[in-house]
Amino acid sequence: MERFYCSGCNRFYPVAPTIWRCECGSFLDLEFKPNFLTKKILKRDSTLWRYREALPILRDENILSMREGFTPLEEMDFNGHRILLKIDYLFPTGSYKDRGATVLISKVKELGLKKVIEDSSGNAGSAIAAYCARAQIECDIYVPQTTSAGKLVQIQAYGADLKRVEGSREKTAQVAMEAASRIYYASHCWNPFFLHGTKTFAFEIWEQMGWKAPDVLVLPVGHGTLFLGAYMGFRELKEAGMVRRIPRLVGVQSASCAPLYQAFKKGWRETRPIEKKETMAEGIAIAEPIRGRQILEALRDSDGEILTVTEREIEAATKEMGRRGHFIEPTSGATVAGLKKYLKHIKKKVIVTTLTGMGLKAAGKISHPNI
Ligand SMILES: Cc1ncc(COP(=O)(O)O)c(C=O)c1O
Ligand SMILES: [Zn+2]
Repeated sequence: MERFYCSGCNRFYPVAPTIWRCECGSFLDLEFKPNFLTKKILKRDSTLWRYREALPILRDENILSMREGFTPLEEMDFNGHRILLKIDYLFPTGSYKDRGATVLISKVKELGLKKVIEDSSGNAGSAIAAYCARAQIECDIYVPQTTSAGKLVQIQAYGADLKRVEGSREKTAQVAMEAASRIYYASHCWNPFFLHGTKTFAFEIWEQMGWKAPDVLVLPVGHGTLFLGAYMGFRELKEAGMVRRIPRLVGVQSASCAPLYQAFKKGWRETRPIEKKETMAEGIAIAEPIRGRQILEALRDSDGEILTVTEREIEAATKEMGRRGHFIEPTSGATVAGLKKYLKHIKKKVIVTTLTGMGLKAAGKISHPNI
């Protein structure tokens, strides 16, 4: 039987629609053992479902897929370093969040549910709304009032009930959590099935690199759903004997909102309150990451680090990538700015980074950075 567990207090729970958090208040994880059958993988379509035996959906008929994933891994030169860029804005909804949504909403279908709620800075909400539309599952998406217009229109285009909340991203989460006592919480941060989708980021890199792991992964971190998915994916590969080690995980935060940077530098187990300022990188403007403890553990376990980037650096990197043919949103520009910073103090290493969100989603913020 599938079970959730709490790594904070070692309690176990059944996978039931009403259970999304431990009695101790912590997030939950899923007990799951994947399999990697490389011969079978190679014969399948180029979607993230090619890793079928490593994804926790019990019956094939519940899989909701839009042929997502297996995104390109492109080589690009940065200051004389050969970097591999995973082009994750090439998903049906324009961001990597579809990795999580395809698995989570397949699970929602498997559980026989008819309605979900989610709160998001915009992209996760778009992804959940799109997959719910496919499955004809009703959904309410809560977003902060300041979310980019492109994302708001997109969420509504999928037929979701958009709920704009005045105040911060944290306030939005609070309002959604109250509603979650009545409706299934398809939260990308709380719900472990989402991470079992984002972990396919690691599997694809492993396959595209000839069944090997890179030395370093440079990733954006807000709630850490890509960061933790990448960590989980490589940990599962390591435990299955498919790779020798987990890559060093380098997280990038905006200097205007960097709770993980603060906690990591100070050696804390959990994040603590920070003074949050406005940032163009709305996707990583997370002051209170739900899985902060888990992200800090992954950083230490992988011998990784956290970097911060300024608004000026984010803007410059977003523009530079446009000139190089990649129209990305500023949250992804932040990752590139972090990569450039990281390259200043490392020697030859195989480094993978990613472009997570399409520029069209945040066109206003790109053309008028101070809005
Ligand atoms: C484009 C983009 N990149 C990265 C992230 C960061 O994801 P997370 O908050 O799970 O760390 C987000 C989150 O919304 C995003 O929209
Ligand atoms: Zn607990």
